[in-house]
Amino acid sequence: MGRFGAMDVVSFSRVSPGGSVVEVGAGTGNFLALFNEVSARRIAVDITKGMLDEARRRDPSLELIQADGAALPLRSGSVDLVASAQAFHHIYQPQPVLMEMRRVAGADGRVLIVDQIATERYEEMAFMTEVEALRDPSHAASRPASAMRMLVLSAGLEIVDERIHEDRSRFSSWMWPGEFPEERIARVREFVAKFGPETGMEFVPDGDDFTFTRRRIMILARRAGARREAQTVGGP
Ligand SMILES: C[S@@+](CC[C@H](N)C(=O)[O-])C[C@H]1O[C@@H](n2cnc3c(N)ncnc32)[C@H](O)[C@@H]1O
Repeated sequence: MGRFGAMDVVSFSRVSPGGSVVEVGAGTGNFLALFNEVSARRIAVDITKGMLDEARRRDPSLELIQADGAALPLRSGSVDLVASAQAFHHIYQPQPVLMEMRRVAGADGRVLIVDQIATERYEEMAFMTEVEALRDPSHAASRPASAMRMLVLSAGLEIVDERIHEDRSRFSSWMWPGEFPEERIARVREFVAKFGPETGMEFVPDGDDFTFTRRRIMILARRAGARREAQTVGGP
């Protein structure tokens, strides 16, 4: 289950048994694997070929598409659930991606966004973005929950449900030595020792390590006015 284990993603998504799921920024397929039992069709979209190669190695039954989320090569209204997990903080301009997700979900589909969030304090958001980008240079922005909601609404979606999930993590697993070069770990550790309290991530020293709070939001949305559209099409 990995990092999504405690989030109860599948029931939150309301995806019907046998429904299709596409994930934008699917990486190696961790998140899509949550839908193995319920979804007949799982489609991984990612801009990075290496990620999709690894996803195929892990699960040959996945359909793979190498594409930018802002230009999805999928038919309008063709997928039941269009999701994106832990990818928006890598995207500088999420708006075109959300609009594409809305198009592909269509009037009957749902859009699901899962991503890490910053606090609502501007200064903490800026410090969090700085430490995240120091850790991973492909990090674009740490956004507060309010910004995530605004992005969703301004893409022409309405929010069906929302949940914020918090847990405590350890610096040593966030910056696992098997994944990050030693010298980068040292730089981030130094930043945390100096500016940890400014990030809103609640870093607490624990021996050689730190613990901190990780916050993630799940937003389930549908096309704004979808019910009206369905009534008009079905019409009396
Ligand atoms: C942190 S990984 C998340 C992977 C997976 N969703 C998970 O949670 O395990 C973010 C992924 O988003 C992809 N990505 C970033 N920008 C993208 C874009 N504009 N369109 C599609 N994929 C993108 C990256 O290549 C990367 O694989």
